[in-house]
Amino acid sequence: MTSVKSIAVLTSGGDSQGMNAALRAVVRSGLFHGLEVYGVQRGYQGLLNDDLRPMDLRSVGDIIQRGGTILQTARCKEFMTPEGQQRGADVLRARGIDGLVVIGGDGSYQGANKLSKLGIKTMGLPGTIDNDIPFTDVTIGFDTAVSIVVDAINKIRDTMSSHERSSIVEVMGRHCGDIALYAGLASGAETILVPEVQFDLNEVAERMKTNFANGKRHSIIVVAEGAAKGDDVSKQITEISGIEARVTVLGHIQRGGTPTAADRILAGRLGDFAVRQLIAGNSGKACGVIKGELTTTDIDVVTNTKKAFDTDMYDLALRLSQ
Ligand code: ADP
Ligand code: F6P
Repeated sequence: MTSVKSIAVLTSGGDSQGMNAALRAVVRSGLFHGLEVYGVQRGYQGLLNDDLRPMDLRSVGDIIQRGGTILQTARCKEFMTPEGQQRGADVLRARGIDGLVVIGGDGSYQGANKLSKLGIKTMGLPGTIDNDIPFTDVTIGFDTAVSIVVDAINKIRDTMSSHERSSIVEVMGRHCGDIALYAGLASGAETILVPEVQFDLNEVAERMKTNFANGKRHSIIVVAEGAAKGDDVSKQITEISGIEARVTVLGHIQRGGTPTAADRILAGRLGDFAVRQLIAGNSGKACGVIKGELTTTDIDVVTNTKKAFDTDMYDLALRLSQ
């Protein structure tokens, strides 16, 4: 006895590496459990356009290693309105679809929450490079994005050392500093600027001068886009310290490319889990992993909670960067 017979899955908002792996897991797990599974093209926009197609085992072949999302994604203004949300629910009902898995970030979760309140059985999977979703230790795509940033910083560090320069690397994350924090920690950055922690560029510049006087050959400043613009940081740091600086804005390369093994495994576990939760009769939940364990939290709670910043990790990065 399952409480759902037919489910749909969509990817929404900014894409992330591992969305395809999550989609594959939802489809294959759904089919394994005897459900009909539909893929919605272009997120909520596709839902409003009734752009759904049945998925079979082969529709998700050869995608586990691919970045992006084969279902495409979109940002849909119309779905932000109550009328749009009602229409989305009606489209699903008209097709006899009783469950929906939404793979996306906090905005997409808000949409899933609205559908859930309209009686659609929903499950959210955290698909975003930003790692800004609470009630999960990590989001799908975050590990890959951090690895891309670390790889870039390794290369930048080589040339900055040769020229005894300072380098400012601006990374994504929207309002969240996690990409900057974890990439900064992993790449030995001297300074990590995040929106969650106040900073003083005078202090940063003075510290840099001391470090150079003590024999450092380069200085890496990782700045989260939510904290400041790399160009502004560069101007001020050079003005105060007199040390030459160069800015690299990594941009969308952080969101593409093949997902790491960790992201693929996370996506596989979460995708299968979401389907099993729907079958078990749960709905209106966001799925996550906390201390290695798969968890569900009311999506209403998730969307109304701000993710806590890991200040211990931030302090560690500072201690190790002297
Ligand atoms: P992400 O999911 O990556 O955070 P967005 O914030 O752009 O990306 O949200 C993706 C889509 O989710 C939006 O284009 C919109 O269709 C839907 N959405 C966002 N916020 C809401 C909301 N408050 N109510 C209903 N739908 C929303
Ligand atoms: O949410 C993912 C993200 O890549 C953010 O880190 C960034 O601020 C934003 O999306 C960029 O959005 P767009 O691709 O629309 O420029």
